[in-house]
Amino acid sequence: MKLQAPAKWHPASWRRRPVAQQPDWPDPCQLSRARAVLAAAAPLVTAAEARGLRRTLALVADRRAFVVQAGDCAEPFGGEAVRAARAKSLILARLSDQFGARLGVPVVVVGRLAGQFAKPRTALSEVIDGRLVPTFRGLAVNAPEPLVSARRPDPGRMLRAYGTARAVLAELRSALWTSHEALLLDYEEALVRSGPGAGEWYLSSTHFPWIGDRTRQVDGAHVAFLSGVTNPVACKIGPDAEPESVVDLCARLDPHRSPGRLTLICRLGVNAVRHRLPELVEAVREAGHPVVWLCDPMHGNTRRTQHGVKTRWLSDIAGEITACREILTERGEWLGGLHLELAGDDVTECVGGDVTGEEDLSRRYTSLCDPRLNNKQAMSLTTLLG
Ligand code: PEP
Ligand code: CO
Repeated sequence: MKLQAPAKWHPASWRRRPVAQQPDWPDPCQLSRARAVLAAAAPLVTAAEARGLRRTLALVADRRAFVVQAGDCAEPFGGEAVRAARAKSLILARLSDQFGARLGVPVVVVGRLAGQFAKPRTALSEVIDGRLVPTFRGLAVNAPEPLVSARRPDPGRMLRAYGTARAVLAELRSALWTSHEALLLDYEEALVRSGPGAGEWYLSSTHFPWIGDRTRQVDGAHVAFLSGVTNPVACKIGPDAEPESVVDLCARLDPHRSPGRLTLICRLGVNAVRHRLPELVEAVREAGHPVVWLCDPMHGNTRRTQHGVKTRWLSDIAGEITACREILTERGEWLGGLHLELAGDDVTECVGGDVTGEEDLSRRYTSLCDPRLNNKQAMSLTTLLG
């Protein structure tokens, strides 16, 4: 495994690149104080753990294991996060048993937790109850209440994010690997630590950071940032991604063509997957990158009800998984796993199974951001594979 960062890479080198989706922190002094506290804080995960996951993902690239990566779209803070993470670890264990039995390979369980506190947003502001307010960007940035004051970015929240991640890890460390979108670069940069090898840096905020679909610009800050850490990294791929730009991303993030280093998480949507995925898979294969292919059947299938409530249909989710697997299999590739948003609770946020229609959604809709599967809905997906 080559573990050196590219020449001249430094945790702050992303600052020379165009950066998308960062909050406009109102108080620079508060921001530097929060960054200093994080820079001095204990690492949340170790370099050895990150390497261990990278080796495990190499087995997935070699078709010898399957990944189930799942959790909230946006995590809560404090004791609620610990409770929610515990619930997720239980459903993740059940999913792992079922997928393992059906596929006949070990399952790598990755929580979307202990750090999933920052959200990319399409719009800067939104209208709620007739009031125009800035959008909610995850609890590491602002508060969800629809008030201008609550939506003001507060750098002190990054410290609460760190504290919550630490509490969640203390509870679950032995049960699973952690992952989140490495979106908020002031937070992530402060948690880079030097690794044991010469020129080695690793991200201590999580085992498995990913780049979102809105921040995957090849010359942008997020790609530059994750190109230098030795953790296994992932990148979301949406329906606008062209094969050439995906190959360029692979070259930046996986220059040594190292199995386990790079995972591509496709979230193309049930309508685009058959048209878009084949050329992406072929281009990446031709370029010789041994990536892990995951299917995120959630983010390309979000819709709004006539009342403006965000939801997803289980039938679309199942349709994208099935198509994704067929396309990969026909090309001799391995569907390495699924990336899901699930609550671990009996929520009614997606339509399908025991949530029989959109009129059921208001019964128990508690997500801070995107609609998540409940346990029954998530378990029903295990019948699609194997
Ligand atoms: C997410 O994972 O919650 C998300 C915003 O995904 P994407 O970057 O794929 O849109
Ligand atoms: Co989401």
